[in-house]
Parts: sequence; structure tokens; C-alpha cells
Amino acid sequence: MAGLTFLSCVLVLVASLLLQGCYNYFVHTNDKHVTLFIFGDSFFDAGNNNYINTTTHFQANFWPYGETFFKYPTGRFSDGRLIPDFIAEYAKLPLIPPYLQPSNHRHYEFGANFASGGAGALVEIYPGMVVNLKTQLSYFDNVEKMLRRKVGEREAKQLLSNSIYLFSIGNNDYLSAVKTNSSFYHSYSQVEYVEMVIGNLTTVINEIYKKGGRKFGFLSLGPLGCSPSIRALNYSRNAGEEITSLVKLHNKALSKTLHRLERQLEGFMYSNFNFYTPFSERIDNPSKYGISFKEGKSACCGTGSFRGVQTCGGKREVKEYELCNNASEYVFFDSSHPTELAYQQFASLMWSGPPDLARPYNLKALFAHI
Ligand SMILES: *[C@@H]1O[C@H](CO)[C@@H](O)[C@H](O)[C@H]1NC(C)=O
Ligand SMILES: *[C@@H]1O[C@H](CO)[C@@H](O)[C@H](O)[C@H]1NC(C)=O
Ligand SMILES: *[C@@H]1O[C@H](CO)[C@@H](O)[C@H](O)[C@H]1NC(C)=O
Ligand SMILES: *[C@@H]1O[C@H](CO)[C@@H](O)[C@H](O)[C@H]1NC(C)=O
Ligand SMILES: *[C@@H]1O[C@H](CO)[C@@H](O)[C@H](O)[C@H]1NC(C)=O
Repeated sequence: MAGLTFLSCVLVLVASLLLQGCYNYFVHTNDKHVTLFIFGDSFFDAGNNNYINTTTHFQANFWPYGETFFKYPTGRFSDGRLIPDFIAEYAKLPLIPPYLQPSNHRHYEFGANFASGGAGALVEIYPGMVVNLKTQLSYFDNVEKMLRRKVGEREAKQLLSNSIYLFSIGNNDYLSAVKTNSSFYHSYSQVEYVEMVIGNLTTVINEIYKKGGRKFGFLSLGPLGCSPSIRALNYSRNAGEEITSLVKLHNKALSKTLHRLERQLEGFMYSNFNFYTPFSERIDNPSKYGISFKEGKSACCGTGSFRGVQTCGGKREVKEYELCNNASEYVFFDSSHPTELAYQQFASLMWSGPPDLARPYNLKALFAHI
């Protein structure tokens, strides 16, 4: 009896080693790797804004940004890596370079990052200062054309259908609207405004689908109303409550739209990550999430109450700022952006988290699907 159990154990072990070998073969074979295309805002921007004519308000290419991991500023709005950097690592890809970064050999072999700090789904958000989502799509069109020239129509479509398209968008559509109290925003009801944001995102998804894209990943909106920058407004004009209400409407509309697209578009697959819950939990109870977090509400780097004035680095209007000793004790690095450690925890949940956080699939399942 014991011998039989031992034998079946050995068989299971051999079978799983074979499967593992098979998996590694597909993941590691160069011509079979999945490509990653990244769209959105400062949560995903790996340095595109270093190369546009904008102001330091939309840039993070100065110290202490990047201090923890890269040891130099890359343009990422954090002390280290961002969610797409970790996702690339989990998928055994190299870091995906910013599309606008000058390079002699543009092959987009592993994908491209089009995200731009300050960008919204609507072209009215910070016009001329950021690369809006529509322009990001036109950059993707350039990549698609180049691929078709290089490997042919069929191959290109195959490659694009195996690719993953990651999005973080909407944050600035709402933050900018509420902070500036723009008349553009006020000419719509909250529901209409959210519909317009989601409508513009849907247009981009449809365009990518037409070019062959099938597998999409979304970072829904986090608790924007609880960021140090909004707390520092002392909840004047109830900015926090207004943003929270927009965020909740947006996340509901996003879930509904993705579910509808799944029914309408053959082969469309997605992963919608609930960013709101794990982010709020870390803000409210930082020490419950790993040994190092101590502070969830104040930023590591900035000025004023909650270090919520965006002065990190001293290159913006205000030159004085405070910097904590150890960013990994904080959930927020600057007034609006998480630290590398927080991003790593979110990325790990997005990659392999349970279905109540990553619906209906996590990214790992999306990458594995051929
Ligand atoms: C960059 O923008 C500034 C202000 O908007 C403008 O004065 C300047 O000419 C622009 N530079 C380039 C190279 O476009
Ligand atoms: C925001 O704008 C609306 C309409 O433009 C105006 O009625 C309202 O008073 C403004 N609120 C604040 C706090 O400025
Ligand atoms: C996209 O946004 C613009 C405003 O920037 C709006 O006029 C347009 O109707 C939106 N498109 C969709 C499909 O919602
Ligand atoms: C918020 O309140 C704090 C102290 O109560 C004050 O120092 C700060 O200037 C206020 N911030 C704004 C933007 O009003
Ligand atoms: C930061 O804090 C964490 C945990 O408290 C510790 O493991 C790490 O070594 C610290 N890093 C630095 C640079 O002090």
C-alpha cells in the first residue's frame, strides 16, 4: 500500500516536471513570448514625459524620484518600479521602454509603454501638457504599421492578438475636473461625465481590438479622495467626497462596459483589477500589510499637511520639501503616487490575486492563454 502511494507520488512529480518544462519552453522561446503594451497616466508612465514639452508638474525626472531601485530618476512617479515593471518581471519580460525614449533600434520586441503622467481619457485634460489617450493610440498605430511592414500582415495580427494591453486611465479626468472646478466638467452631470470618460476608453479598446488585440488588463480607480494631495485641501469644497463619488461611478461603469464588450466582441478577454479595496486597506491599516509599512496617510516626500503639496524634488513652484528616511515605511511616495513597495503588492495581486480582486481572470491567466 505504502509502495503504491510512493509510486503514484513519483509519477505525479515526473508529470509536473514535464509540464513545467513545457511551460518554460513556451515562455522562454524568444519568438513565442507575449508582448506588453501599456497605456495611461502617471501610475504607468515609465518616462514618456521626459521627452515632451511640458512643465515639471507633469515630470518626475529628478531626485529623489527613483532613489530606491534605480538609484537615479527615470521619470517614474515613485521611488522605484511601477506596476507594469513588476508585471513584466512576472511575465519574464524585460522592462518595457517608454515609446518616446530615443533609441537606435526600435523593434518593440517586448512591447512599448505609451503612458503619460497627467493624461486623461478626455483630450480636454491638461491639453498640450500631456500625451492624452487618443494620441497614445496613434502611437500604437505607428507600432502596428511598423510591425506589419516587418513581419507581414498575418504575423503582425497574430502577435498583436497574443499581446497584453494594460490600462490605467481616468484618474486625471476626475482629479483635474474637481480640483480646477472647470466649466467643461460643470456642463455635464456626474453620470454623463463618467459615461464620456468610459466612452472614450471604449473607443480605444475597440480600435485595438480591430487591429487584433484580444487580451486587456485594467487598473480600476483607487481611493483618489484619500490621497495626501486631496487630504491637504482640508476637504474644502468636499473635494474628497466629490472625487470618491466619481470614482465609484467610474468603477461600476467600467465593470459593466467590460462585461458587455466580452459578450459583443468574439475572443475579447480581460482582467479588471479592483484597485480600490487593497489600496484603501493599506491606507487605513498600513502595518497589517508587511513588516515595513508604518504610515498610510502621509506621503514620504512633499510639503505641508500630509506632505500633500506636490513639491517632491523641489523642482516645481515650491522649492522646500521634506523627504522621509525610508520610503518602504510609506504607502504614498509623493502626494498622489504609491511607493515601490505598495506598487509591488498591488502588482502581485493583479498578477495572481483571487477572482474577487482580479475579475474574471488575473493577469497570469491572461498571459497564459494562447
Ligand atoms: C515649449 O512650450 C513653451 C511654453 O508653452 C513654449 O514657449 C516653447 O516654445 C515650447 N518649446 C518647443 C520646443 O516646442
Ligand atoms: C464651481 O463651478 C460652478 C459652475 O461653474 C459654480 O457654480 C461653483 O460655485 C464653483 N464652485 C467653487 C467651489 O468654486
Ligand atoms: C469622448 O470625449 C469627447 C470629449 O473629449 C466627447 O465629446 C465624446 O462624445 C466622447 N466620445 C464618446 C464615445 O463618449
Ligand atoms: C489645511 O490645514 C492646515 C492646518 O490645519 C494648514 O496648515 C494648511 O495650510 C491647510 N491647507 C490648505 C490647502 O488650506
Ligand atoms: C527600511 O525599513 C525596512 C523595514 O522597517 C528595513 O527592512 C529596510 O532595511 C529599511 N531600509 C533602509 C534603507 O533603511
